Formats: sequence, structure tokens, C-alpha cells
Amino acid sequence: MCSEFIFHFIDMSQGTYIYKDLDPKSEKILSETFTSQFRKNNVKYEGFFFSQTIKNFADAIRKMEIRDDDIWVCTFPKAGTTWTQEMVWCLANGQDHRAVQKHINQRFPFFEFSTLIDFADTEFPVPVNSVEDVEKLASPRFIKTHLPFNLLPEKLQNFSTNAKVIHVLRNPRDTLISYYHHYRTGHDYKGSFSQFAELFLKGLVYFGPFPAHLKGYLAHEKNPKILFLKYEEMQKDLKSVIHKTANFIGKSISEREMEKLLDHLSFSSMKQNPAVNYALSLEMRKKLNLISEDDGHFMRRGIVGDWKENLNSELREKFQKWEEETMSGIHFTFSA
Ligand code: A3P
Repeated sequence: MCSEFIFHFIDMSQGTYIYKDLDPKSEKILSETFTSQFRKNNVKYEGFFFSQTIKNFADAIRKMEIRDDDIWVCTFPKAGTTWTQEMVWCLANGQDHRAVQKHINQRFPFFEFSTLIDFADTEFPVPVNSVEDVEKLASPRFIKTHLPFNLLPEKLQNFSTNAKVIHVLRNPRDTLISYYHHYRTGHDYKGSFSQFAELFLKGLVYFGPFPAHLKGYLAHEKNPKILFLKYEEMQKDLKSVIHKTANFIGKSISEREMEKLLDHLSFSSMKQNPAVNYALSLEMRKKLNLISEDDGHFMRRGIVGDWKENLNSELREKFQKWEEETMSGIHFTFSA
């Protein structure tokens, strides 16, 4: 095995970096399937899987000033983040606003984007500082993050401002399928689906483990400054979710606007919409041969229960056991 690609779990024993010996199977999967030069050094940071780059940003993130009119959409990856961002942005700004055509990353930037890619020991300079960029945004700020609750800015964690947090949940099985495809298209992952499932269940995917991420947010379920939405609920009754969200952020919506928004947020519209479908970046990655032609789309299937077609009986069993072991105390149920 080429040592260059071995994942390093760093022990700094001051509590910041937690040393965890990887079991040989996981180490083998990670080193053989996750071989991009930008993905070499990963750490377990405050209980979660990150690129070592997190250490360059964690302090600034923790100390960041929060504004009363901030709106944060916080999710585990693939929970329906983009869908929610578009809904929230349109509710807050109106759909007739010309800026709706701007890319969602400009209107609603990804806070910790810079922490994901490891530029150390490459010839590339770090291209952006997403944390600083978000700090400088004009108000009101719309911010997307996948950070676990315990790594959010402190002032957001202690709810000491009037900033609003919207957390979106999706059932872990569909999240797994969606994340696997995202890893292929976005993180240069070269392994099989079953290998990815193994990593997911062990929490060895960015922002994992899933159960700890979920529990971190659910611990604040009763706080009125945080709204919980479910992907499955958005599929079933988007209109109610829109009303609930509008109410939460202090906006109203007319029947006419509602009809328009429902259409704008439909899967088929979003799949065609270059401001949210990430087609351009996927095209670019295909041209650079980072991913193959058949590696698909960001707006992939957009359904509930995709796992039923994708998990074989062995994986279903593993999942069931994992869910019982790791999420038994959670009263939250997913409809699929
Ligand atoms: P699939 O990969 O299962 O299709 P995120 O934005 O958090 O990365 O989530 C992406 C997932 O949300 C993808 O799931 C995508 O298809 C789905 N999605 C995005 N917009 C949607 C919409 N309007 N309706 C249903 N699903 C949507």
C-alpha cells in the first residue's frame, strides 16, 4: 500500500485531535478507494471525520460573529440541503428578484467549503477562504453548513443571537445512496458501493458519523430558534413545509406566489435550473477526467425509498443492526 495515501489519524492528545486506530479493513478501503491528492490526510476532529484542513479554520469558525438576521441551513450532506436553500432564499427575497438566477453558492454560500480540500503538499495554492467570505457577506446572510452542532460558531451553539437555524433530516439509507454518488462525483471516490456503505456505517465519511451528527442537533429540538424539517415531509407535502418555514423566518406568502414557488421547487424544475443543479461543475470535472461520463447528476433521482432498490439483504441487515445500536434512543422516525 502506498504510504502517501494512508489516512492519518493524528494524536495531539490535548483533546483536539482524537487518535483512533483504524481497523485494517477500513484503512484498506480508505487507502485504496480515496486516492485523490486532495484527500490524503483525514482526521477525527471532535468526534467527526474531516480533512486535516479543518484545523486551519476551526478557531475562526468557533469565534465567528453571528448576526441577528442570519439564516443558517444546517444539514448532514445529501439531506436535501440545496432544495431547502432555494426554498428559504425565495421565501426571504421573493421569486421575482433578479438575483434568483445567480448560482445558489453565491446567494447562499457553503460556509466550511475550504475545510474539505487538503491542499497541503500539492502544487496548488488554497483558492478561497470560504469562512472569511461568509464573515464579510452583506446582511441578511444566508449560510449553508454541514458542520456538526458542536463545531458551529459558539454564538450559534448557545443561541445568544436571534439568528435562525433550519436543520433538514433525511433517512440514513437514502442519504447513504445519495452520498455515495456525491462521493464519486465530488470527492473523487473510486470504490464500490458496498465499500462506501462500510465507511458510512463506521462514520468514516466527511461529517460522519451520521447518528452523532443527528443527535447533536436533535438535542436542541425544543429551542424556538431552530426549525427541523424532513426531506420525506418535503416530498409528501411541500406546501405545508413552505408555510412552516415562512412562518419561522417571519415571511408570508400569497396563494399565487405559493403556486409559483411549488413549481420552481419541483424536482423537474430544479434539475433544469443551472442556478441550483451544479451541472456546470460536473461538466468541468468530466472534461478534466476527474469523473467519468456516466457518473451522473447532482439532481439524481430525488425520491424517497431509493435504498429499497439499492441495498442487498446483507446490507439491509447491517443497516438495521446499526440503526438499532446507534439510533435507538432517537424518537425521530423517518417515513422510509
Ligand atoms: P438524490 O441523490 O437521492 O437524488 P443535497 O442538496 O443535500 O446535496 O441533497 C441532494 C439530494 O436532494 C439529491 O438526492 C437530489 O436529487 C435531492 N433533491 C434536490 N432537489 C430536489 C427536489 N426539488 N425534489 C426532490 N429531491 C431533490
